[in-house]
Amino acid sequence: MDNRPIGIFDSGVGGLTVVKEVMKVLPRESIVYLGDTARVPYGTKSDQAIKRFSLENAEFLKKFNVKIIIVACNTASSIALPALRKKITVPVVGVIRPGAGKAIEATRNNRIGVIGTPMTIKSKAYEKEIKRLSGDKKVFSSPCSLFVQLAEEGWLDGRITLDIARKYLKPLTGKKIDTLVLGCTHYPLLKNVISKAVGRGVRIVDSAGAVAEEVKGILGRTGKLAINRKKPSYKFFATDAVEQFAGIGARFLGKKINNLRRADYV
Ligand code: DGL
Repeated sequence: MDNRPIGIFDSGVGGLTVVKEVMKVLPRESIVYLGDTARVPYGTKSDQAIKRFSLENAEFLKKFNVKIIIVACNTASSIALPALRKKITVPVVGVIRPGAGKAIEATRNNRIGVIGTPMTIKSKAYEKEIKRLSGDKKVFSSPCSLFVQLAEEGWLDGRITLDIARKYLKPLTGKKIDTLVLGCTHYPLLKNVISKAVGRGVRIVDSAGAVAEEVKGILGRTGKLAINRKKPSYKFFATDAVEQFAGIGARFLGKKINNLRRADYV
């Protein structure tokens, strides 16, 4: 039994899609969330910057005596996981392995598409993980950078978003994929449009639910699940203006964000 909180960080508000799943799958666990809104987006930054930011974020979370850290950001998970595991003494879990596992379970024809930020796609993290777990899979990837802005703007449906989705997904539509991985925190909000653009027959998977299940498994195996008699506590931090985070974040979390403060180490 371990009632210490789970730490979760992302480059901004997007990781709240992971928080939402963790709250659902692990309702007794307390959570400290950090969104690095001052330095978002990570998806177009250099390896060095992404690693440095990720390490600083993890150090911040460690101050709350977290028992495990979830890297909700796909870009940070793709680039910074080995560096984090080397330097940070609490267990660190990324979203790539759980998402890759889910895609492998979902595909029937072994042809999987992956979309994400430019840095996630460039790193080939999903592709490598899918092939490591299951060698006979074919992976086709495409970066979709504007999806992040569209999701934050709340343009989740409609003509313009559908046109942009069709343009981004065009390289994947001729590849006969039957499964598409949403390899970015923001994309679950655009699931409807993405599904329309790629074809209704394609299964859409994302990492948020899968990482929550993975963490449940790790905490269970190591005897670290919380047995909170009280309600769990949720703390939220942003490295930039909290008003903006609260407004956009509520859409990602699906409810109002309370207990939100500024983290001023950036
Ligand atoms: N959180 C990022 C991800 O999942 C998307 C936003 C960004 O580029 O920082 O890759």
